[in-house]
Amino acid sequence: MKKIVTKEEPIAKDQLIRLLLTLQEDAVGAITESTESVDTLRLTWLGKNSEFLKLASSMRSVTPEDKQQIGAVLNGVKKSIESALASKQQLTNQQAESTADWFDTTEPGEQPPQGHLHIVTQAIAEITDIFNRLGFTRVRHPEIDWDWYPFEALNMPHSHPASDEWETFYIRYPGSPGKEYKKQKIVLTPHTSNGQVREMEKGVLPIRMINIAKCYRRQIDISHTPMFHQFEGLYVDKNVSIGHLKGVLDYFAKHFFGPDRTTRIRPYHFQFTEPSFEIDISCGICHGKGCKLCKEGWLELGGAGMTHPQVLKNGGVDTTVYNGFAFGWGVERTYMMKSNSNLDDIRLIYGNDIRFLKQF
Ligand code: DAH
Repeated sequence: MKKIVTKEEPIAKDQLIRLLLTLQEDAVGAITESTESVDTLRLTWLGKNSEFLKLASSMRSVTPEDKQQIGAVLNGVKKSIESALASKQQLTNQQAESTADWFDTTEPGEQPPQGHLHIVTQAIAEITDIFNRLGFTRVRHPEIDWDWYPFEALNMPHSHPASDEWETFYIRYPGSPGKEYKKQKIVLTPHTSNGQVREMEKGVLPIRMINIAKCYRRQIDISHTPMFHQFEGLYVDKNVSIGHLKGVLDYFAKHFFGPDRTTRIRPYHFQFTEPSFEIDISCGICHGKGCKLCKEGWLELGGAGMTHPQVLKNGGVDTTVYNGFAFGWGVERTYMMKSNSNLDDIRLIYGNDIRFLKQF
């Protein structure tokens, strides 16, 4: 910027005009290039202490004839500076807008909501893992099956009252040619025990299977859902004893429920095992002494027994050489009995309320 004369000194018209035009050039250039704010630039170039105002005040010392011409130049210069400031303002606004649309690629991203496995899937994985360690392999057998496998093959003829318990869903199906049982009804299997004879039919011995599948019964209340899961163990080998069964049950109880838990077996009746048992697990609260929850110190887990020779025969197993044991429990029920899950209504598991499911 040029050195400016003070207002006391008289100033020639041409000199003043030149100074004004130089100022205009300097101002417009500086405003365009500066990174300072528009307000600061306005103060510098048109404010109280600006060169422009100093030059404008020297108007007082010019002759009246020159005043008009200088006045016109003065106005022109002011307009140019103002318009440079206005352009600058516009540019600043545009930059602010585009920064709003901008995103910083180095900024850490927002975490998308993360799901987890459903509690039944978690329970199935845990159960499978525990039995794997004992040499049991998870297998899959049909969840929609001929009447034969869940009933007749397990010593429950059509008319047998035992099948009433398993009030089941029948599928309308005309039957297929071939084996006699294929002319029968098809059911949504009411228990995973249908997998027993199917596994034997594979013809590979010994058997150590764990069949985990969906089951269906016409029941719904606080402890039943029409669809639920069971896990079915079957061990067929030479010289299998009740002691082996008890050992497997205890191993499962300690690993699934906790090292301080144990099982007991009570005599019961199932058509497909002889002898048959109900399995109880010691209560996680009173440890077998008896409390408000369990009353007698034990909670009922499910059924088990030594495989009935007729069932083995139905599966083509030579009963003079082999025998076995089996057990079958509900996955949901077993999970609910885990001491740290406070589930008091089995239906919640399938209510699909994310607030409930998130807790597990
Ligand atoms: N299938 C039976 C039920 O759903 C449970 C059961 C009992 C399974 C005894 C077995 C068994 O394998 O041996 O109630």
